[in-house]
Amino acid sequence: MDHSIITETGTDIDKAKQLLQLGRLVAIPTETVYGLAANALNPDAVVKIFEAKDRPFFDPLIVHSYSVTAVLSFVEDFDERLLKLAEKFWPGPLTLLLPKKNTVPDITTSGLERVGVRIPAHALTLSLLKSLPFPLAAPSANPFGYVSPTNALHVYNQLNGKLGYILNGGPCEVGLESTIVGIENNKVCIYRLGGLSMEDIEKEAGKVSLKISSGDDPKAPGMLSSHYAPQKKIIIGDIEKEMLKHPGKKIGVISFFKDYTHHSNVSNNIILSPDAKTNEAAKNLFAAIRSIDDSNAEIIISEYLPEEGLGRAINDRLRRASLKINE
Ligand code: TXA
Ligand code: MG
Repeated sequence: MDHSIITETGTDIDKAKQLLQLGRLVAIPTETVYGLAANALNPDAVVKIFEAKDRPFFDPLIVHSYSVTAVLSFVEDFDERLLKLAEKFWPGPLTLLLPKKNTVPDITTSGLERVGVRIPAHALTLSLLKSLPFPLAAPSANPFGYVSPTNALHVYNQLNGKLGYILNGGPCEVGLESTIVGIENNKVCIYRLGGLSMEDIEKEAGKVSLKISSGDDPKAPGMLSSHYAPQKKIIIGDIEKEMLKHPGKKIGVISFFKDYTHHSNVSNNIILSPDAKTNEAAKNLFAAIRSIDDSNAEIIISEYLPEEGLGRAINDRLRRASLKINE
């Protein structure tokens, strides 16, 4: 690994474009989380993403583009049910699994026949994508297994020295990774819950099936049971009850809307949404986990949100964050 790269941060689209054309890595803002991008059609560029993230090669990357027409240049066909979703929700937090053309190298899809594709809703990144003659492969811009970054500083703090440029587009509006959708047994299927709610998808597509692995399924590593994990132990449950089980410990609390600061052993309390809105909670979740992970709290206690809207995806991430293997 070459640690001599100087990582700059700024809003210069031309600079980002030049580096990407040279086969280098650039972090890009999206409405979901920041991505670590490279030319999706160039295997020598894509391999750098895996190296910088310490990501296993069996974990496929999402390819970002700017229009359905541009997407059609690298996929074989576009199922009409998925096309309807694309027309409704792109640009937006929706990734579609589509059969790839041979121009998409195997390393990008980890050898799978389908490629994950999305058009992100972020003005800077859309301009960048339009200016390039190739789409961008971009996983979340964090070391493999850690929480996704929702601002430019999160990227810098963990990947400084491993990429040339961070395109700074401010804090991410949605704050959770995209929802991944494809066709399974001729039915519309959700493979990863994310920033587009199941309710919104079902309004367009009717009842969908869920194929969200809770085990360690190597075919869908974004869904590995212990993923999105902080360094510290995170316990999810009834916050008051869990606190009683850990007397004498400094506790960091991430709560949906209630305040726990009056408890003497609470060293930090981040409230995700004082108005109890799941969208606002989603936007704040990953920054909250990072900030408590970096604080002097010895353990983190959080709670599940209602299973509706983005609450489902938030609960999925909390559950995976709590399932750290090496604790
Ligand atoms: O919102 C997002 O999706 C962000 C931004 C940057 O677009 N990206 C993101 O990428 O979350 P990543 O790599 O952290 O998660 C992508 C996950 C993979 O781990 C895998 O589970 C799934 O998407 N995936 C990608 N391509 C796939 C494919 N061809 N078949 C099945 N699953 C795929
Ligand atoms: Mg990721």
